Amino acid sequence: MVRVLFVCLGNICRSPTAEGVFRKLIREGQLEGEFVVDSAGTHAYHIGEQPDERAQSACARRGIDISQMRGRKAVAADIEKFDYVLAMDSENYQDLIEICPLGYENRIRLLMEFAKNRPEKEVPDPYFGGVSGFDRMLDMIEAAAQGLLEEIQRSRN
Ligand code: 4NP
Repeated sequence: MVRVLFVCLGNICRSPTAEGVFRKLIREGQLEGEFVVDSAGTHAYHIGEQPDERAQSACARRGIDISQMRGRKAVAADIEKFDYVLAMDSENYQDLIEICPLGYENRIRLLMEFAKNRPEKEVPDPYFGGVSGFDRMLDMIEAAAQGLLEEIQRSRN
């Protein structure tokens, strides 16, 4: 079993989108039984809330339903539980390092490390921008999620 956690600030835009994209990939690869997938936020602003409407719409346009997800805050125990803790940007990364139990730091990575043929190092926060930011976010997350799954599969063989 491989455990993968996607983390952003609010857990209503980027990380639920990444969870939805990655779930779609493992479903298509008939790998659902081999993964535990979840998402969380570094801040408590949106605990219990549905993903942002704009994120839900952008995901729905690509055949991904994230409407059942609910916001939660990342905790130290998550980093002990999940093999891959994937931060969307360097602020999320730093916030995770601050709560990380000693010796587990190498589980925390930037998601965009896994994207091939993309120059970006971070997935920008789309919350305060327009609709196009949500499509761009999805393009980046799809590339990274594909690279991540390939990397995980390679490391298990
Ligand atoms: P997310 O976007 O981290 O991608 O879920 C945000 C959502 C809410 C806020 C910031 C970013 N906020 O400040 O409430």
